[in-house]
Amino acid sequence: MTHTRAVDTRALRWLDPPDGPAVVLLDQTRLPAEEAWLTCRDIPALDHAIRTLVVRGAPLLGLAGAYGVALAAYRGDDVAAAADLLARSRPTAVNLSWGAARALDAYQAARRAVGDADPGAARRAADAALAQARAIEADDAAASAAIARHGLSLVGERARILTHCNTGALVSAGEGTAFAIILAAHRAGRVAQLWVDETRPLLQGARLTAYEAGRAGIPHAVLADSAAASLMAGEVDLVITGADRIAADGSVANKVGTYGLAVLAHHHGVPFVVAAPVSTIDFAAAGAADIKVELRPGEEVTTFAGTAVAPPGSTAHNPAFDVTDAALVTALVTERGVTRPVNAGTLQSLGAGRGSREGAPTDVSVER
Ligand code: MRU
Repeated sequence: MTHTRAVDTRALRWLDPPDGPAVVLLDQTRLPAEEAWLTCRDIPALDHAIRTLVVRGAPLLGLAGAYGVALAAYRGDDVAAAADLLARSRPTAVNLSWGAARALDAYQAARRAVGDADPGAARRAADAALAQARAIEADDAAASAAIARHGLSLVGERARILTHCNTGALVSAGEGTAFAIILAAHRAGRVAQLWVDETRPLLQGARLTAYEAGRAGIPHAVLADSAAASLMAGEVDLVITGADRIAADGSVANKVGTYGLAVLAHHHGVPFVVAAPVSTIDFAAAGAADIKVELRPGEEVTTFAGTAVAPPGSTAHNPAFDVTDAALVTALVTERGVTRPVNAGTLQSLGAGRGSREGAPTDVSVER
């Protein structure tokens, strides 16, 4: 059994009065060089923190959306407008708008129940929004633990796992999604090597996943994204990534580069596993065409650490995400279990909670 140091990272926390109300964020743009915290006391500050990836990753964006609505409520802002603004901060990760909407629903339901004539109505409604945000946080922590438990069954002995972007405690109320499985496998002594895609252009892999793997004592190596192809030809037993939005047909939106990995894995017969909470499944999106892929500033590609690497006048194509067809996904791990194959039918039953048998994954491990 391999022992690891605890990797308890609270990347987002709520601050009650008298110091709050506020949402306090671990600034992920400053990692791994320093652990700096940003206190957001209003919605424009939180919106900016989301747009600039101070806070990032689908599940955590869900918390940011929900706590943001609570913040607006306690401030006495226009809560519906705040929810709408936060939901638009970044378009691809469905959890952001989902979290904001759930907190807004709780706020509005409480206002209706109390009635505006009651002088305490606004305060009670703000309390309801905060309670909803806390419930989302607790659910996410539980989902993360369940994902780790179910996903472990897909990891064989002495596994060489490749992962993309960052999906650990920095993006979750728990230990993450894909990274939570990797952590569980490491604790079970099953990880021989973790290959960490650097994840250009913002390097969430090199900066954040390597940071979390190092803290956990996982044997890992950072690679240029383009090195994954040759590694896939015999040095990788399993690819595990997260997701930002999963459409009803099983199309998976995740960090740009994920689709390429799925194609490579398919070509080399390597299992390609996606891990995400059910809250990341958007049943209102029928397929890939219904997923809005965020286009980010070209400077993220044409400059590196503030230095121009492309000649002046060069334009850049900088989609933050891409979409992988369900047919390339070997299995989806959620808090409900392991779903395979991944298609409209299995997702529908998963969505309705009937899907995978709770706690009883179909396969012991994915052997090549
Ligand atoms: O642009 P980012 O860093 O927010 O992108 C994050 C990802 O693509 C993650 O893989 C995804 O959100 C899942 S996090 C569990």
